[in-house]
Amino acid sequence: MAMQERIQELKAQVEAMKANNLDEIEALRIKYLSKKGEITSLFNEFREIPKEEKALFGQPLNQLRQLAEARINEFKEQLSALSAQAVVREDLTRTPDPIRLGARHPLSLVREEIIDIFSRIGFTVADGPEVEDDKHVFSLLNFAPEHPARDMQDTFFIEKEEGIQKPTDILLRTHTSSVQTRVMTTQKPPIRILCPGRVYRNEAISARAHCFFHQVEGLYIDKNVSFADLRQALLYFAKEMFGPETKIRLRPSYFPFTEPSAEMDISCDLCGGKGCAFCKGTGWVEILGCGMVDPNVLEACGIDSKVYTGYAFGMGVERIANLKYRVKDLRLFSENDVRFLNQFEGC
Ligand code: PHE
Repeated sequence: MAMQERIQELKAQVEAMKANNLDEIEALRIKYLSKKGEITSLFNEFREIPKEEKALFGQPLNQLRQLAEARINEFKEQLSALSAQAVVREDLTRTPDPIRLGARHPLSLVREEIIDIFSRIGFTVADGPEVEDDKHVFSLLNFAPEHPARDMQDTFFIEKEEGIQKPTDILLRTHTSSVQTRVMTTQKPPIRILCPGRVYRNEAISARAHCFFHQVEGLYIDKNVSFADLRQALLYFAKEMFGPETKIRLRPSYFPFTEPSAEMDISCDLCGGKGCAFCKGTGWVEILGCGMVDPNVLEACGIDSKVYTGYAFGMGVERIANLKYRVKDLRLFSENDVRFLNQFEGC
């Protein structure tokens, strides 16, 4: 076929080209414009023809190649415009993903449940600083300086004078009883408060052990508050928290700020009190310390111990959460691993 006709023929083909996707566009480019493509071949032949003919075909050939290149570019642009449109359209009309709210931390869940249970029998929440003075953490609570009871609650000192402990030493509170002394020294009975919060102890149980945990302590001071009231309030709490079948028992114990003092156990709900590995065969698990506020504490805080009596109790939130959710390793509570935390979604 003469050069003239072949140019005409290819021009018609280029004008009729169609492509719907990148593969088809690429196929057209290979067919016409690659090294062995039809238009490229025509250029190769063009080099061989006599000079006088070159003048005739040079321009139409160039135009043919430009046309093919332009059409292919046009296809590419159309395609990318289309896909950009598709992305925008998808974003605007799609039903949005439901928002994931995440989960409350198990310690927050348990703290709030404890507060909820006691608020139903008249307790309100009191708050205080984590960096405290010795006076509110120890001295007002009947811990004599250098008394061995202080060793049970060794802590981190922020400011400490040399030698014997002084009420002015500044330290991280070891229990939220410090909030109780703040309230007792500033408010008049009746006092019925819950003190939730973070507390610190210098306990190197293992290299990865944490030196803080969370407590909720309670204090009730009024006329005629008795040990029976304490027992009844704690029994109510245990049944609300762990189920109506739960039993409690109080074992004599010692705290400097309560007299008499007790540890409270609840019946093990894993074995129903028969004895299992969880309760170490005893049928009971320890959950809190409690007692009648020592008259020395009342007097030190400016409350007349001949008129008023009171009870106090304190529990570890991690311990209660552990019993409730059976968390095997307490470190999970502070490691922030979402695989653990996700399990409390919807709780
Ligand atoms: N403050 C005690 C502790 O942290 C707990 C407690 C509170 C015990 C009130 C008795 C009465 O160990």
